[in-house]
Amino acid sequence: MPEKLALDGGTPVRDPKQNPWPTIADASGRDFGEEEMKLLQQVIQSGSLGYQYGSMVKQFEKEFAERHGSKHACAVSSGTAALHTAMGALQLEPGDEVITTPVTDMGSIIAIVQCNCIPVFADVDPETLLIDPATIEDRITDRTRALMIVHLLGQSCNMDEIMPIVEEHELYLIEDCAQSHDAKWDGRDVGTFGHFGCFSLQQSKQITTGDGGICVTDDDALGDEAYRFHDKYYDRSGEGRPVERIGMNYRMSELVGAVALAQVRKLDQIIGRRRETAEALMEGIAEIPGINPAKVHPKATHTWWRVIITIDEDELGTDADTFSRAISAEGLPFGRGAARGEPICMLPAFQNYAAYGTSDFPWEPPYGRKVEYRLEDYPGTNRGMSHTWTCSWNEGYTLDDVEQILHGLRKVSAWYRGS
Ligand SMILES: Cc1ncc(COP(=O)(O)O)c(C=O)c1O
Repeated sequence: MPEKLALDGGTPVRDPKQNPWPTIADASGRDFGEEEMKLLQQVIQSGSLGYQYGSMVKQFEKEFAERHGSKHACAVSSGTAALHTAMGALQLEPGDEVITTPVTDMGSIIAIVQCNCIPVFADVDPETLLIDPATIEDRITDRTRALMIVHLLGQSCNMDEIMPIVEEHELYLIEDCAQSHDAKWDGRDVGTFGHFGCFSLQQSKQITTGDGGICVTDDDALGDEAYRFHDKYYDRSGEGRPVERIGMNYRMSELVGAVALAQVRKLDQIIGRRRETAEALMEGIAEIPGINPAKVHPKATHTWWRVIITIDEDELGTDADTFSRAISAEGLPFGRGAARGEPICMLPAFQNYAAYGTSDFPWEPPYGRKVEYRLEDYPGTNRGMSHTWTCSWNEGYTLDDVEQILHGLRKVSAWYRGS
């Protein structure tokens, strides 16, 4: 006899109100301690809280760049700032087009529009929610200058398919790695394939300073441009170069730099813990009829910002809506889809071309064109949003938590399969 589902009056596998899952919102799912405290204390005692005078931010940039085998790194105040700094360094023309993905955070798109460029959205693979390279090429026009890919959820995009498109069309490539610290494609770090790799250190990310970000590049000229863009185009090198362009103030403070440095030194250990539990979960799910673990490409190393699962409705014997209600009644920590459940370009800001005052700039002539953002152009995204379930993962999850999640999923599968 299968165990009665909580949805039908049975006992839930876990009551998160009594026994919450570990969360990125507090210490239950975050790793801060002596290392951060020690470096923070050094900063306070030094009296230098600004990066121009201190050493923490510089040391963080050095160690982050070394880890990635990159020549240059620029630490900034958020992941959005990292992306904007990268875009700013490219110095594209108003109305130029940048192809990106409709499943991402606003930070990716803000960086494009705040450089007066037009975001054009490819579609995603409905099982991984990663940009589908097959949908990029037919979005390319004579105004396309750059591709901004997003290594979503801790995964890596398929770089074997993306790089030939970048090369053939001579595009700039920006990799948004906000969710994918330490993820790899064929053993190579994400963020090192393109002109820039941009990372977020916001509270939910694999390593965090609450808010913060960093971008890396191997290109000397772009590295210099990015560094100047993030700090008002002031020349801190002592060469006395004047302010040649309009930049931003996206500087990281030494206090943030201290935490960032301690965190990057723990990255291997943090990712190790995430991989141990997430991979145990995925192995367990592979044994459950009707429920599929994350589809991970054999060349990709996943670092589990979120875990993602799909179902086979025929094999499971129920539909996506009922499955959603059943796992939620069991107290399992999954939500449906990712981001906000629809292609990002369906938000009013894009539907109304609302970036600058009452104008439609940069979407309007003479600079740009009115790209239409229509729901039906994103079948992969629409399918993916209704047929994937994701769960924010963190290093606080234990193998006991994993066993409880597996228990809940086995229970739901057995019930609907009548076995
Ligand atoms: C894919 C992606 N891009 C960009 C960002 C922006 O990062 P931040 O929130 O640090 O500005 C985030 C973070 O939420 C993200 O997940």
